[in-house]
Amino acid sequence: MIRIMQSACFVSAVFAFALILSGCSPKESELRGQELFDLHCAVCHMGPTPDLKKRPPRLEKLFALKQLPSGAPATDTQVRKTIIEGLRTMPAFDKRLSDQGLDDLVAYLHTLK
Ligand code: HEC
Repeated sequence: MIRIMQSACFVSAVFAFALILSGCSPKESELRGQELFDLHCAVCHMGPTPDLKKRPPRLEKLFALKQLPSGAPATDTQVRKTIIEGLRTMPAFDKRLSDQGLDDLVAYLHTLK
């Protein structure tokens, strides 16, 4: 029994260490995503609506439904695509965000309740 506990402990220690090494524990990614969101997205998606023809949708619980407001499937891939390419009045962010930045943003969007 003690042996099993020791090895479980070892495995989780290795896992935690690997996360620290890779510098991308889920939490950190979400935090970086939040910074990017505040910088690039919040102006339109949070707070008072800017002067756009179409009101940007709120992004809370984005992944809770099967569909995004546009009717596209509510998946990470689809949301990344929207951010990269833009959607009608929403600008494209392909030049402004790295792959890591996109991962971080999507991780953060998952936390919006
Ligand atoms: C200039 C304002 C503006 C900015 C900045 C902006 N958006 Fe949008 N966004 C919109 C508008 C408007 C729509 C609705 C587009 C439509 O359906 O015609 C939208 C739609 C979306 C959707 C829903 C897509 C769908 O398929 O329904 C997501 C997800 C989204 N935005 C995420 C983001 C993220 C993440 C950022 C930051 C990287 C961002 N937006 C920045 C205006 C903006």
